[in-house]
Amino acid sequence: MATREFGVLIHGAGWVSTQHIAACRQNPHTRILAISSRTIESAQSRATGEGLQDVAIYDDFDRALGHPGVDIVAICTPQHVHCANVLAAARAGKHLIIEKPAGLSAEELRAMQEAVRSAGVRSVVSFVLRWNPLFQTLKRMLADDAFGAPYYVEADYLSHNGSWWSGWAGANTRAQGVSALLVGGCHAVDALRWFAAAGEFEAADPIEVFAVAGGYRKGSRREYNPILNRWIENAPPMEYDGLEVALVKFRNGVLGKVSVNADCIMPYRFPLRIFGSRGSVMDNRIWSHRFPGQHDWIELPALGPDSSDVRHHPFQGEIDHFVECLLGGRESHCNLADAIKTHDIVFAALESERTGAPVRLPRS
Ligand SMILES: NC(=O)c1ccc[n+]([C@@H]2O[C@H](COP(=O)([O-])OP(=O)(O)OC[C@H]3O[C@@H](n4cnc5c(N)ncnc54)[C@H](OP(=O)(O)O)[C@@H]3O)[C@@H](O)[C@H]2O)c1
Repeated sequence: MATREFGVLIHGAGWVSTQHIAACRQNPHTRILAISSRTIESAQSRATGEGLQDVAIYDDFDRALGHPGVDIVAICTPQHVHCANVLAAARAGKHLIIEKPAGLSAEELRAMQEAVRSAGVRSVVSFVLRWNPLFQTLKRMLADDAFGAPYYVEADYLSHNGSWWSGWAGANTRAQGVSALLVGGCHAVDALRWFAAAGEFEAADPIEVFAVAGGYRKGSRREYNPILNRWIENAPPMEYDGLEVALVKFRNGVLGKVSVNADCIMPYRFPLRIFGSRGSVMDNRIWSHRFPGQHDWIELPALGPDSSDVRHHPFQGEIDHFVECLLGGRESHCNLADAIKTHDIVFAALESERTGAPVRLPRS
């Protein structure tokens, strides 16, 4: 394997950037050369806060893209600017780490994919749970036939998103967040695709989506903080439905049910169930034909997905994987082209909620 070093530009200096910075510093093949953000102050304060001394600071993305030696750009800005950021960085010939959601619409995502394709750069989208230790263990067991062929998967993103998150201002709006399934629930949609395919590094292709939306929180100024177990009055309202439930049919015949619940009054949870022809998974508990004497569930002692804190998320795994892809000259299983299929389910769900009819995928 090659031993080269990749120069990194971190763009967007908020909460998630702390983990991109930490992971790039840990990886022996990456070196952070610059941080850019909306203001010099926030970029500088991120550099200082993370103890980065020899990095350039920018408040102008185009100038930052011209910084000598930058090979990779980590897009850590809010989702409503991802499309413009990706178009500019791809045109500048940079490889891309793109935060989720990658874009706000199918049109944006296709324009981004075309820019990435024509520039010949590589990409990874931060569906970071693909590198969660429990997910990795379950996916390897699935690939190893521990549960037989999957036929039904359920994943749920249960998170009362609100002002506890620095990115909430904007993400709470239809214009910049679009929907609860897009803002956070896309992690559960991606998990559904991931476990609906038996291959260790394969996600299933959706062909049909039917969804309903509801809940009670939309438009309310009363918000709950699940970390402090406190209510907040006069909070900026969430402009979309907090509850969305979607049924998804995959090309390989697997059925899935996915939900986002941003109305729930409880700490963050990410339940997962996988049903196969020779075994089942309930979160970290497994039942498998591989253990014929099994008389109770076996609990896997692997770290699960039950935290919304970015410090808990496996960004190191994602970034190490992406660097391996760059060194090996291959595409990530979670590149933009693949991630678009996850986003397409989200947009199809919104359409189905609006029309009351199922939506066929892929769109022509
Ligand atoms: N993969 C995951 O699990 C995960 C977890 C958390 C977040 N995310 C995603 O990461 C993205 C950022 O979230 P966050 O939590 O880090 O939000 P955040 O804390 O609000 O940080 C956003 C940063 O981007 C900067 N920014 C805002 N608008 C900008 C613009 N137009 N141009 C340049 N910089 C701009 C902000 O600058 P100022 O400081 O000057 O305001 C801030 O530094 C979102 O898309 C979010 O969904 C993903």
